[in-house]
Amino acid sequence: MATKAKEKAKDKEKAKVVLVTGAARGIGRGIALRLAKDGCDLCLVDLPSMKKQLEGVVKEVKDLGRNATGFHADVTVRDQVFAAVDHAEKELGGFDVIVNNAGIAGKPGDGLLDATPKDVETIFKVNVNGVLWGIQAAAEKFLARGQKGKIISASSIAGHDAFPQLGLYSATKFAVRALTQAAARELGPKGITVNAYCPGIVDTDMWELIDAGIGRTTGAKKRETFEAYCKTIALGRPQYPEDVAAYVSFLVGPDSDYMTGQAVLIDGGMVYR
Ligand SMILES: NC(=O)c1ccc[n+]([C@@H]2O[C@H](COP(=O)([O-])OP(=O)(O)OC[C@H]3O[C@@H](n4cnc5c(N)ncnc54)[C@H](O)[C@@H]3O)[C@@H](O)[C@H]2O)c1
Repeated sequence: MATKAKEKAKDKEKAKVVLVTGAARGIGRGIALRLAKDGCDLCLVDLPSMKKQLEGVVKEVKDLGRNATGFHADVTVRDQVFAAVDHAEKELGGFDVIVNNAGIAGKPGDGLLDATPKDVETIFKVNVNGVLWGIQAAAEKFLARGQKGKIISASSIAGHDAFPQLGLYSATKFAVRALTQAAARELGPKGITVNAYCPGIVDTDMWELIDAGIGRTTGAKKRETFEAYCKTIALGRPQYPEDVAAYVSFLVGPDSDYMTGQAVLIDGGMVYR
């Protein structure tokens, strides 16, 4: 009995190892910092072009007293995603959760009639293929380690309602919900949960790009599109990475252990399901 109690206490002490993609800035950085405060150790993944920013986030996590390691990977390349998961396990001594956060907006402002084969390929490779490789790499690792695990991916309000001038983006985020549901059904019996988070209008570099792109089409000035969208938020303010990270913290933690296959909206009240 005493040994069991000791084992339980030891289990509790062991930090969860979480890999976050797209962690060099924006929502990914917010998630990393929140999970560090929660007591997780972190493998932070981003493109080589984000070296400086990624190093900065690794340092911020270490300053919060947690273990952190940075890894450069392009989520469109399957082998690189698998290598990132191997790196997390090797450097941090375990592997418990993947957060497939990396994503791009593509060419916001363009209508569906403007989309070229290259545009379609580019955005689907990151937002959909990248999530699928993350699901595969994480699940393979959990199974090899003989343990339970959690897979969490970035969808969006645009994954529930498709937005004009963001049509391809919306299609990719609907696809993330489909992958989440199918993976939940396939992996549930193996003790792996799969969920997604669906933010609204988050004030990040991505929204700067969306604001500029839609502005080019509609003639709206800088920040006008952002502000117009924000006016439709019931809680009356834009969203910040911390708002998203608070929900991801719940998904990573034990209180969501009985939840799988869900893509919950956390948007201050824009899209209602
Ligand atoms: N900002 C929003 O309003 C909003 C709303 C809903 C959903 N989301 C989703 O949340 C996620 C994060 O968004 P954000 O606003 O922080 O975006 P962001 O552009 O600020 O940051 C995205 C990060 O992902 C990285 N990244 C891009 N392509 C990559 C690739 N191929 N491989 C590895 N890393 C790559 C970038 O370098 C960057 O660091 C995205 O999936 C986005 O679609 C954002």
